[in-house]
Amino acid sequence: MKKNIMLSENIFWIGKVDDRNVPFHRLTLTKGTTYNSYLLMTEKPTVIDTVDISFGKEFIENLRNIIGLDKIKYIVINHTEPDHSGALGSLAARAKNAVIVCTKLAVNELKEMYKLHNRDFLVVGDGDTLDIGGKILKFIETPYLHTEETMITYCEEDKILFPCDIFSTHLANYEYFNDMAKEDIKNDYVGYYKLIMHPHRRYVQNMIEKIRDLDIRMIAPSHGFIIREDVKSFIDIYDNMSKNTDLDKKTLILYSTMTGSTKKIATILNEKFQEQNITSKVIDVNKIPMEEVMKSINEADAIFFGSSTRYADMIGNMEDVLKNLKSLNLESKLGAAFGSYGWSGEAIEVVQDYLNETNLKVLNTSDVIKSTGMIDIELPLRIRFLPNEDNLKSIERLVIYIADLLLSAI
Ligand code: FEO
Repeated sequence: MKKNIMLSENIFWIGKVDDRNVPFHRLTLTKGTTYNSYLLMTEKPTVIDTVDISFGKEFIENLRNIIGLDKIKYIVINHTEPDHSGALGSLAARAKNAVIVCTKLAVNELKEMYKLHNRDFLVVGDGDTLDIGGKILKFIETPYLHTEETMITYCEEDKILFPCDIFSTHLANYEYFNDMAKEDIKNDYVGYYKLIMHPHRRYVQNMIEKIRDLDIRMIAPSHGFIIREDVKSFIDIYDNMSKNTDLDKKTLILYSTMTGSTKKIATILNEKFQEQNITSKVIDVNKIPMEEVMKSINEADAIFFGSSTRYADMIGNMEDVLKNLKSLNLESKLGAAFGSYGWSGEAIEVVQDYLNETNLKVLNTSDVIKSTGMIDIELPLRIRFLPNEDNLKSIERLVIYIADLLLSAI
């Protein structure tokens, strides 16, 4: 056990260095990584995050050499992915007096993942604090950095930020602190940011705003080096790289509606894109000449095609619009299908089939999940009758996702 790896008074690194070639998000981390877990030896001893499930047994044995596991009062889980929560099941089984601290969204995930249905959880949200006897922890929710349930923990006394995946590097190392690193880690730090955080840059900006007024002396992330030298410059990298949200991009929402519900979705999409500072316009394809529709498609960077369903098919001029797409070069453009429906919504699928025959980059749910881990964005966008509150939230996320895609293309 590396009890001597001390971040501050009574705060210790208790993680695991994984210097293998680590499989990760369909890549191989050739420089390995670390799973950083931390022990705060206060009056109410607290563990922040654990290690990958592969190293759970070793983690428990090492931790047992420092502290009786029944003395642990809190286990804070900032993020549920198993490279950080992997040892939670084993730890919770032995640290029987510990309460698990996490966001509301994380509770059910952890219960299901580690069979913790009978366990005490303390749900925390933005700005909540927890007195662990000699130190105060403050919690900051950071949704989509990089999954929905994530949060940051901040220790007020020691001014240490525990941001889990955020501000991490994938570098196996035995130096632990960035001022001890044998070489400059910034390239790897930026590479990690681009891979994991950049697709969520709107949320990065939200996070930066939330931590802007914190006095941060040290960042103790859950992968790679602990940052205690030039802390501000590392935060600034995230701030600067996520800042460019000025988009010289255009979206176009085309629709053909029967009762007005598909028009309603088109209008909401249009408004949401405009809220993201993206030039957007909406066109009823039954009211505008085909030449004008084609011209607008040529000028747009992302195009939505929506139709109500009647007799299992599209309505109005939408099919003619889709047929005409074959005459256009749409190579650098994004395309998506949407529509309101009452029973099966076949038209939405037919629109999608047409789009798949073009050279548009057609957006779909599978690609969203694989590239971002976001599971609540439906593409094609199918809404039964009029959008409800959940639909509106989902549309908002969809728009931010597409805005980020357009941003990435700059
Ligand atoms: Fe390092 Fe999202 O797990």
